[in-house]
Amino acid sequence: MCGIVGYVGPRDCSDVLVSALTKLEYRGYDSAGIAVFENGKIEVAKSKGRLTDLVNKMETQGKPQGHAGIGHTRWATHGEPSDINSHPHSSGRRVSIVHNGIIENYKDIKKFLIENEHGEFLSDTDTEVVAHLLDYYYDGNPIKCIRKVLHEIRGSFALGILFADRPETVYAVRCESPLIVGQGKGEAFIASDVPAIIKYTKDYFLLEYGEIAVLKNGLASFCDLHGRMIEKELKTADFDEDSAEKGGYPHFMIKEIHEQPTAVKTTITPRIECGMPNLSECGITPEELKKFNNIFIVACGTAMHAGMVGKYVIEKLARVSVTVDIASEFRYRDPLIGENDLVIIISQSGETADSKAVLNLVKGTGAKTLAIVNVKGSSIAREADMVIYTHAGPEIAVASTKAYMVQLSVMYLLAFQMAFAKGRIDEEECQRLTLELVRTPEVIEQTINRIENVCRYVSTKLITADSLLYIGRGLDYALSMEGSLKLKEISYIHSESYAAGELKHGTISLITDGMPVIAVATQNSILEKTISNIKEVKARGAMTIVICDIQADIDKEAADYIIRIPKINETLMPMVATVPMQLLAYYTSVNKGNDVDKPRNLAKSVTVE
Ligand code: M6R
Repeated sequence: MCGIVGYVGPRDCSDVLVSALTKLEYRGYDSAGIAVFENGKIEVAKSKGRLTDLVNKMETQGKPQGHAGIGHTRWATHGEPSDINSHPHSSGRRVSIVHNGIIENYKDIKKFLIENEHGEFLSDTDTEVVAHLLDYYYDGNPIKCIRKVLHEIRGSFALGILFADRPETVYAVRCESPLIVGQGKGEAFIASDVPAIIKYTKDYFLLEYGEIAVLKNGLASFCDLHGRMIEKELKTADFDEDSAEKGGYPHFMIKEIHEQPTAVKTTITPRIECGMPNLSECGITPEELKKFNNIFIVACGTAMHAGMVGKYVIEKLARVSVTVDIASEFRYRDPLIGENDLVIIISQSGETADSKAVLNLVKGTGAKTLAIVNVKGSSIAREADMVIYTHAGPEIAVASTKAYMVQLSVMYLLAFQMAFAKGRIDEEECQRLTLELVRTPEVIEQTINRIENVCRYVSTKLITADSLLYIGRGLDYALSMEGSLKLKEISYIHSESYAAGELKHGTISLITDGMPVIAVATQNSILEKTISNIKEVKARGAMTIVICDIQADIDKEAADYIIRIPKINETLMPMVATVPMQLLAYYTSVNKGNDVDKPRNLAKSVTVE
């Protein structure tokens, strides 16, 4: 969603803002803009389209020259993408703001301002209303004004603010939407995410709910909701500029696919002791795990699909009932949760609005919450009772790959530990499964090397398709959901995932000559059944692509293309079978000439409902 940046320091502010915004492009946007103090006055440049459109516009119309300012990439919510609706928004000359999130009561505020004859509204945005409200209350004391406005606006937001009579100073405030404050040598930054500023500094503060940051003379200071000065803990990012760059790959997505072996190793290694899973550093003990009768896994998109795999594995090994739900559904369906239940929220960003809302819903029910999150210090990680951090490093491509893979690896650790705690498997079996998991990074690497070219070739057979099906049974069905989402979000080909055994109940009527059907067939215990389903669609004209292990006995007549992957323990096959699905999606998107890392209409982190 929208990205915010701000800068105060000796460098050319416009250049820093544009460079930082470039690192937030992955969040998704349709317009961009900056506001910079130039000779004591706020100068604004903004444009619909990509950052390059803004840069081109500044080249012809002049770039604001100065050393303090704010910048923004907008993902349209209120009003179409246009120059006028782009941020920063101003209230005449006194206040300029950038905003991430949604102001729920903006209509009431606008009415109030109009009744009080304050402000001329030029855009359709909720943000412009806040600029005017700040102006309305401004009496020369910025902190007092921001606090007053904070009490009046409702919603989720982070704001970067310039007051014209406070030159060379940037103010920022946060409620729900994430915002960090970077501290360099003689320069300070604000940003929606750490990768935006990592080129300049690794040191940053996490702005908490209601806290206000003031960036002045290259230094950041803070006060709380009551206006009292506060000290904050300086954090240091555990990645560098290189990991937030493409490192020689043409796209972040393919770089992130190749990073999976390392990401899995880094995630599981610290959680294994004497060959057994050990999640106690995350606050999860075997005694605790033994108590849970029901598990709810709640998440969105890819993270929810990792939960689907988790369900199959936990139920199979630990014999505990697991319900997987989409966060936007779960939060409104009055779920039956209570004591001795565990609610697991999976989220790469840790900021997804619907997933975050689930935490609030669970509070007071007696159920425990466990967050499985990639971004350190994110809202979901901080608000859950327990947290397991995945160590995938920054994931920049909108299409999630390595984050999914590490989420799977955590699902396995949890399933093994729970199965052992509940006495469903003995120590020897637990160690054997854990060892197989430990070996997966190597197998994932072999798989990528072995099949990348095959997938590149097979993807050329998909590019002309209007629609396709992904099918599978059991764990393969759970996997096919992710394969289908990955493909549709970046190739723009309509795709659905179907339980292979369900085809005959309606969906098979969609099959026409040449329609691609991708079958995931890695579960040998039900392979025969899946093969029958593949033959059924093949007989009706489908072009079949089968993902199976190197030993699987697949009839040549049943499959037009076979993608063979290494064979490991059947329960762990998703760790390997994910790779061809990711590569098929990636190369189909590349072959279609799409913007692989920033697919249309999508945002990396969905911070609004
Ligand atoms: O940050 P989260 O894991 O909470 O994000 C959830 C989904 O928005 C995300 O997985 C989305 O589906 C991806 N674009 C899929 O590739």
